Amino acid sequence: MDNFIFQNPTKLIFGKDQLQQLKVEVPRYGKKVLLVYGGGSIKRTGLYDKVVTILNEIGAEVFELPGVEPNPRITTARKGVEICKTEGIDFILAVGGGSVIDCSKLIAAGAKYDGDAWDIVIKKAFAKEALPFGTVLTLAATGSEMNAGSVITNWETNEKYGWGSAVTFPKFSILDPVHTYSVPKNQTIYGIVDMMSHVLEHYFHLTEETDFQDRMCESLLITVMETAPKLLEDLENYDHRATILYCGTMALNGILNMGYRGDWATHNLEHAVSAVYDIPHGGGLAILFPHWMEHNLKVKPERFKQLAERVLGVNSEGKSAEEAGLEGIRKLREYWNSIGAPARLADYDIDESKLDLMADRAMANGEFGNFTKLNREDCLAIYRAAL
Ligand code: NZQ
Ligand code: ZN
Repeated sequence: MDNFIFQNPTKLIFGKDQLQQLKVEVPRYGKKVLLVYGGGSIKRTGLYDKVVTILNEIGAEVFELPGVEPNPRITTARKGVEICKTEGIDFILAVGGGSVIDCSKLIAAGAKYDGDAWDIVIKKAFAKEALPFGTVLTLAATGSEMNAGSVITNWETNEKYGWGSAVTFPKFSILDPVHTYSVPKNQTIYGIVDMMSHVLEHYFHLTEETDFQDRMCESLLITVMETAPKLLEDLENYDHRATILYCGTMALNGILNMGYRGDWATHNLEHAVSAVYDIPHGGGLAILFPHWMEHNLKVKPERFKQLAERVLGVNSEGKSAEEAGLEGIRKLREYWNSIGAPARLADYDIDESKLDLMADRAMANGEFGNFTKLNREDCLAIYRAAL
């Protein structure tokens, strides 16, 4: 196991009717609140009215930034930064999924930065300060509610990059499973694939002696795989929504991955695809992850075998590590397809015409991945295999 320092300052507020905690949490940070939300789901579900009622009750002065896109755009974040600067906003409240939260993180950091917020995304500038912000999560997927990461798209240049800083953890996140009842089936599936992919990104590392971490990762994967089919049959089941919501947060809040460094190449490959084609992140991952695994099976076959045996129900007796690993990859792909995730880039009408552009974007910072380094040829091979 490697040395590590762990700190996660986000207060997690979980369960039915916990929205009321806004009354306790928001006044800690001031009166002027910027309410950030997406394309309207929170208005349809009535959550918007509930949040605004509470903010009015506590005497907050509310400003709004609606319309954050899935795969949030720099243009929208800039609008939020402008409001914060001109109105002297004290606190940002993000109500929505990962996109709304990620956009709010950039607004929070951009509000304390003199230049263009895109500088922070491309790491020309580092976020040393940020406005305080909290979240009311409505979709289980990214873990953004309890981590400091944010992924922002510049649609004009077809770029999509992740960034983060110690100052961009939410102060609190309210997770009521009931707020996720209305997430449609397809978005529920993408979220399930995303959280599983976060655990898989952790899992593929080269550090030895991570027995406890391995078992935590495997336990989360097994739990999600057992729960997902039941949830997809019964989208308003509180217990299943609660399990998936909690798993989504735990998959990427730093707890599973202490003491080693995960791979994260597949996320980079996917961000390059959604930068060019604006597809849902989880859909892209379902297509690409099995191909990344096949491409890199030989790097450390025992790791793939362990996953296959412990999580994917492969009996490896009489099989080499590579054979067992390959069977595991096939089972993972079958599982994702069985719950309704896409299998090929062609499912999103992606053909070979922009493979070079996608590879350029994936290679923006040179070779990448910690389990093994991918170069341009590797990127192209994985994209081609996924067509
Ligand atoms: O915009 P609205 O109208 O709210 O609709 C959203 C959106 O269309 C809808 N939705 C959300 N909650 C709903 C709901 N519809 C009905 N009922 C509800 N309760 O779902 C759609 C997708 O929302 P979005 O926020 O885009 O999804 P997700 O949470 O999957 O976030 C995806 C973004 O997060 C990034 C992705 O790259 C992508 O840009 N990621 C962020 C990470 C992080 N910050 O740690 C890590 C991830 O790996 C990921 O890269
Ligand atoms: Zn992800």
